[in-house]
Amino acid sequence: MKEALTYASYLKIEELLSLQRPRSEGEHDETLFIIIHQVYELWFKEILHELDHCCRLLGDDDAHRAQHTLKRILTILKVLVAQLDILETMTPTEFLTFRQRLESASGFQSDQFRAMEFVLGVKSRASVERFPEGGRARGELERRWKEPTLWNAFLRYLAREGYPVPEAHLGRDPTKPVEADAVIQGILVDVYRDSPKNSELCERLVDLDEGIMEWRYRHAKMVERTIGAKRGTGGSAGSRYLSTTLNRPAFPDLWEIRTLL
Ligand code: HEM
Repeated sequence: MKEALTYASYLKIEELLSLQRPRSEGEHDETLFIIIHQVYELWFKEILHELDHCCRLLGDDDAHRAQHTLKRILTILKVLVAQLDILETMTPTEFLTFRQRLESASGFQSDQFRAMEFVLGVKSRASVERFPEGGRARGELERRWKEPTLWNAFLRYLAREGYPVPEAHLGRDPTKPVEADAVIQGILVDVYRDSPKNSELCERLVDLDEGIMEWRYRHAKMVERTIGAKRGTGGSAGSRYLSTTLNRPAFPDLWEIRTLL
């Protein structure tokens, strides 16, 4: 007879609880470090799931549900930022009790974080090539590298709403980074003036962009207070590298138009 479904069998609790394997000899804080990263990866998975859904909804001209989906993503992002508070209860000396056991492992190697950047249009070939060919991570990033971004989906949606988005933007190469563009800014100013529905959608995209930048800032500050100016385990200059990733919006046009409105 088939066994009845239980909480544990549905959620794979046994498997889940067997996935925390500290490398140190019983250093207390390593468990927190592992769990928090695993929780982040699960939320990254959910955010990607929702971002893909949001692109599809925009493709179907369903602005209402696209906005609803963005709202959910933003709520998750707030949790991601708040979670850094938990990590900040770990002092620099507590981190040092197991840091060398991380060897060259680093959040820098999170392919799901790169995938989120890719959906937002922040693409770099180096981020793809960092992962070994034939692996899951490489396959996912190669696929997303060629895929249209959320910004592409949004511009196409605006064109179908009747805004004169130039063909060059609609058919633009999705592997190229998004750059600020005066024509698009002119269109967005009209959106803000004429269309409450579409300007709300723009505001949610700004929330998303700001949310990611907030995470970057809080992560960079948490790193600075934990390891100071030391190099990262991933081989970068640590906080100095992270400070170069701040203040680089994914949707520059939506920021530029504030001055024009
Ligand atoms: C004590 C805790 C942490 C420290 C000291 C730390 C340190 C660092 C450092 C130094 C870097 C730069 C790359 C390198 O050389 O390693 C980095 C990048 C990164 N970390 Fe963390 N990190 C911590 C926690 C986390 C957590 C909980 C996450 C969540 C997944 C995370 C995600 C990332 C990501 C995604 C990057 C790449 C950022 C980018 O390239 O823009 N980190 N981290």
